Amino acid sequence: MSDDLFYVTTPIYYMNGAPHIGHTYTNCIADTLTRYHRLRGEDVFFLTGSDEHGEKIFETADREGCTPQQLTDRYSALFRETWAQHDIQFDRFIRTTDEDHVRAVQHFLQRVHDAGAIEFREYEGNYCVGCERFLAERDMEDGLCRDHERAPEPRSEANYFFKMSESFGWLEQYLQDHPDFIRPERYRNEVLGMLREDAGLGDLCISRPKSRLDWGIELPFDSNYVCYVWFDALVNYLSGIGWPDAPDFSARWANAEHLIGKDILKPHGVFWPIMLHTIGLEPPRHLNVHGYWNVDERKVSKSLGNMVSPAAMDEKYGFEAFRYFLSREMSWGLDANFSEETLIARINSDLANNLGNFASRTLNMTARFADAQIPNPGPGEAPEEELREAFASAAREVDEHFDAMEIHRALEAVQRAIDAGNRYLEHREPWKAAKDPDRAHQVGTTLYTACEALRIATVLLSPCIPAKCDELWSRLGQPGSLAEQRLPEAARWGGVLVGASTTKGKPLFPRIATEDA
Ligand code: MSP
Repeated sequence: MSDDLFYVTTPIYYMNGAPHIGHTYTNCIADTLTRYHRLRGEDVFFLTGSDEHGEKIFETADREGCTPQQLTDRYSALFRETWAQHDIQFDRFIRTTDEDHVRAVQHFLQRVHDAGAIEFREYEGNYCVGCERFLAERDMEDGLCRDHERAPEPRSEANYFFKMSESFGWLEQYLQDHPDFIRPERYRNEVLGMLREDAGLGDLCISRPKSRLDWGIELPFDSNYVCYVWFDALVNYLSGIGWPDAPDFSARWANAEHLIGKDILKPHGVFWPIMLHTIGLEPPRHLNVHGYWNVDERKVSKSLGNMVSPAAMDEKYGFEAFRYFLSREMSWGLDANFSEETLIARINSDLANNLGNFASRTLNMTARFADAQIPNPGPGEAPEEELREAFASAAREVDEHFDAMEIHRALEAVQRAIDAGNRYLEHREPWKAAKDPDRAHQVGTTLYTACEALRIATVLLSPCIPAKCDELWSRLGQPGSLAEQRLPEAARWGGVLVGASTTKGKPLFPRIATEDA
């Protein structure tokens, strides 16, 4: 059933450098989204990969004294291993040099050609290799490309053009009819702005003569040319799931969620829907656009050396703590700032203090006052009812926020419920109640309630911090694995196994010492 199929994509990254905070952010969010939908019992396909053609790659290879193939082999192995090492569970790592991708791009080009949407034209203009395209006046300042701060090269060429502008009206209407196709809304508005006539977005040059660039996918209708890298790259979202032959292609495509950064909005928000429309395919369900990470309030760049490597963060703080920080700190769609101080503050407040504290208190007291077994509860009173309601509403909110692609808010909702759990323990004071003959009978109910709250928190946080949650699940002595749990049942109150043996264990997220604490 198509409702059960889900499809998550990340951009395919240029293979001219190591993975950094920007790539890591998108892949963590994509992995979290994938895990959440798997928890709901859906059949999810998660695609990531590498963008290997184009002049940028060709130039980098030249500088590094190797062939483009050697360069992309090296970096794509590095990206693939980085994700795998950090337990980012993609289903396929696609390379644009993969044979099936090359075939799909040629098929796509032929279909666009057959639809009469490609024209051969003479063109003259300022070409920026950084952008991989001819620049318009507004793309330049003082004769330099605004984005790359380098002078474009004057070029004149005969090339194939995709007659994209003929479909601007269609796209505008599509955006009116599908107001949440591009989200958050600010990016939908940006795309509407790009389509306005005075914005000057014209047709798209989709070829490069082989005499200039021999690194790319050959046009099926003219072997003197290779395909423009963006046209090639976007098709990965189709070839990655077996288009055009895979039997479940249409059902999966209907549930496609693209995740991208705001700098690549134009190709994804304008070129891509029109490319698809031209050959009779629907746009993906959502184009989810995130903002930029700055590091210590500065733009991330190779020359500043502030790229923030996932391996270094893993070594210093543990990858899941870093991943949690990225997901919680950035409001989807807006820019955010990374600094080690904010990272440490977030780990300490949310993971060490709130979650860590609740877990260790609950497990330590169950060991101490209930022989390390989850006790049978007695009838609950108002405080138990309140905590139960706090977790019921967290589960509802998590669901809504994941659907709206607001994972930061989902995490915030769970942390709020955990905070209620800590306050509940402070109110019930099982450490005192156990010694008070009038209150001793409450202790079993209190510990049951805390264990149940901890179990639900574990389920709800597992898409974001999976290994730590697996650990918590086994400390709670719950049967089976966390991966076998299914929402919504798994987050319903009352599911914890009474009598299960619990284990105390070391702090899950040790508090990180800072100079002023
Ligand atoms: N190859 C193209 C994408 C083709 S998709 C069909 C590309 N590659 S990239 O390696 O340059 O960057 C890919 C992604 O990294 C983009 O989504 C971009 O937004 C993201 N980021 C790069 N730097 C970033 C930050 N500092 N912060 C957040 N994301 C950023 O573009």
